[in-house]
Amino acid sequence: MKATISHIKADIGSLPGHTTVFDPVINEVKNFIKEKSESILTDSFVSHVGDDIQITMIHNRGIDDFEVHQLAWDAFKAGTEVAKKFGLYGAGQDLLKDSFSGNIKGMGPGVAEMEITPRKSEPFIIYMMDKTEPGAFNFPIFKMFADPFNTPGLVIDNNMHDGFIFEVWDIVEAKRIFFSTPEQMYDMLGLIGSKSRYVIKRVYTRPNHEKLPDENVAVITTDKLSFIAGEYVGKDDPAGIVRIQSGLPASGESLEAFSHPYLVSGWMRGSFNGPLMPVGLKDAKMTRFDGPPRVVALGFVLKDGKLSGPVDMFDDVAFDGARKTALNVVDYLRRMGPFEPHRLPEEEMEYTTLPRVLEKFKGKFETIESPKKKKELKVTTKDVD
Ligand code: F6R
Ligand code: MG
Ligand code: MG
Repeated sequence: MKATISHIKADIGSLPGHTTVFDPVINEVKNFIKEKSESILTDSFVSHVGDDIQITMIHNRGIDDFEVHQLAWDAFKAGTEVAKKFGLYGAGQDLLKDSFSGNIKGMGPGVAEMEITPRKSEPFIIYMMDKTEPGAFNFPIFKMFADPFNTPGLVIDNNMHDGFIFEVWDIVEAKRIFFSTPEQMYDMLGLIGSKSRYVIKRVYTRPNHEKLPDENVAVITTDKLSFIAGEYVGKDDPAGIVRIQSGLPASGESLEAFSHPYLVSGWMRGSFNGPLMPVGLKDAKMTRFDGPPRVVALGFVLKDGKLSGPVDMFDDVAFDGARKTALNVVDYLRRMGPFEPHRLPEEEMEYTTLPRVLEKFKGKFETIESPKKKKELKVTTKDVD
């Protein structure tokens, strides 16, 4: 029988700034899900990274299910009421619409869902990031499923040797394209290197995968708040579900993709690049310069609709080196203040609050005579003499 993993997340208010969730708020969301989910879900887990509450739900209803989405929406609404009561900052921030209208997609919260054929043992990892954007998953998902230097299983395991199929979304034009790796790897990299526009949405096994043919094995939230609201309304902090083991990246091959704290955009005011630091839940709060951007990994096993776990995967000394590198990069970048490439390039600042500041200079720019034009002018004068 098929099972569905639905992961839905939102920032509904945080403490004190955009730092972390507040216990009474996340407890309200947990209690709401516990009390109202009995006829809808077979299991669930509520957690957080930074200011984002994350709801992982297991059920048999397929993706885009009305009741599953409504349950998450109502839980966030209930949490928002508590956040408002305490006057929390940004209470209800990601709930962009007033009422639920059938599907939570396009309403603010981030959504990653996949319907799966559960294996005898179904291990998977939920990755949750704060202070960054959906394209932040491009690098690690590529490494897990397409880079043999990260994932030797691509070379050694017969089931992985033929590679995987990637679904890539152009989130500006709302279009998608599929690539098969390894044969189309270079074509795909040509797009997904531009991570603010082309984002990996899903990864599938090939039809000839012996253990799990034609299956969705990874999915990422790709929701862009600024595209929904038409203006900067907060951050599109993403989350992703990655199935592991037995013809898929091993748990450690999946985690390995985060051992290098690569640069992501979306730090401070959604306007800065910074290193993505892997942390355990105890460090899942955003402090220095509202960051640095962080990723938490929770490992589960699913059996008969029930979850075992999670294991807090980055809460381990093995990632101390990555954290140290990340903090060195933080020191290095911060000394650049508001300058690129610490600050995002101009075209990406379009989706921040900067355009409103720059508006007042519109029409105040004077035209500069180009040096070339001046030279031409001189020659003409001399000729007349
Ligand atoms: C929010 C974020 C923060 C805020 C910043 C300013 O997720 O990334 O860095 O952008 O704290 O917030 P406001 O404008 O709400 O005071
Ligand atoms: Mg926030
Ligand atoms: Mg956030």
